[in-house]
Amino acid sequence: MIARARWLVHPLALLPLALLFYDFLIDNLTANPIQEITQRTGKTALILLILTLVVTPVNRHFRLPDLVPLRKRLGLYAFLYATLHLSIFVGLDYFFDWELILLELSEKLYVLVGLTAWLLLLPLAVTSTKGWQRRLGKRWKGLHRLIYVAASAVILHFLWLVKSDIREPLAYGAGVALLLTLRLPPVRRWLPRRTPE
Ligand code: HEM
Repeated sequence: MIARARWLVHPLALLPLALLFYDFLIDNLTANPIQEITQRTGKTALILLILTLVVTPVNRHFRLPDLVPLRKRLGLYAFLYATLHLSIFVGLDYFFDWELILLELSEKLYVLVGLTAWLLLLPLAVTSTKGWQRRLGKRWKGLHRLIYVAASAVILHFLWLVKSDIREPLAYGAGVALLLTLRLPPVRRWLPRRTPE
C-alpha cells in the first residue's frame, strides 16, 4: 500500500512551488513579493528537511521499510527549495551584488548560518546516489548524519532572523530536537518496536 502510494511524494513536494507560481501569475504575493517568496521557499525547505528526518525513526519503531526510499526524495526536494531560497536571495534580493552579499554575510549572523546549512546540505545531495553510497561505504552514513547539524543550523537561522515572536522557530526547533533525541542509542533501545507479524 505505502509502496504503491510513494509516487505521491512528487506532486505533494512540488505543490508549494506550483502554488507560488500560481500566486505570482495572479499577483497574489503580498506587497513585498521577494520577501514572500523567500519566506515560503525557506519554510518549505525546513518542513521537507524535518520530514526527511522523520522517516528513519518511524521505520524503526513501526517497521515500515516501504517508507525508506522516501527519505532520499524528501531530502532532495528540501535541497531544491533551499537552493531556490538561496538563489532568490542572491539573484532577486541582491541582484548578484557580491560585495553587498559579502557584507551581509559578515554583518548578519543569520545569513552566515543559513549559508552554512546550505553548504552542509550540498554534499548530502551530491552523494545521495547509490553509486556514491557504494563508493563511500561506511563513511556514507557518517556523512549523512550532517543532516542533523544542517537542520539545527536552519533552526538557528530562523530564530536569529525573526524580530520578536520566536514561537514558530521554537516549535520547529522542538521538532528537530525530538527527532535528534530519538536517534540517541539509549532512547532508541528504550522505545518499543512493533514486533513482526
Ligand atoms: C545562504 C543561505 C541562506 C540565506 C541567505 C537565507 C536568507 C533568508 C532570509 C533573508 C530570510 C528572511 C526573509 C524575511 O523574512 O524577510 C530567510 C528566512 C528563512 N529561511 Fe533562509 N536563507 C538561507 C538558507 C536557508 C536554508 C538552507 C534554509 C532551510 C533549509 C532556510 C530556511 C529559512 C526559513 C525557515 C526562513 C523563515 C521563513 C519564514 O519567516 O516564514 N534558509 N532566509
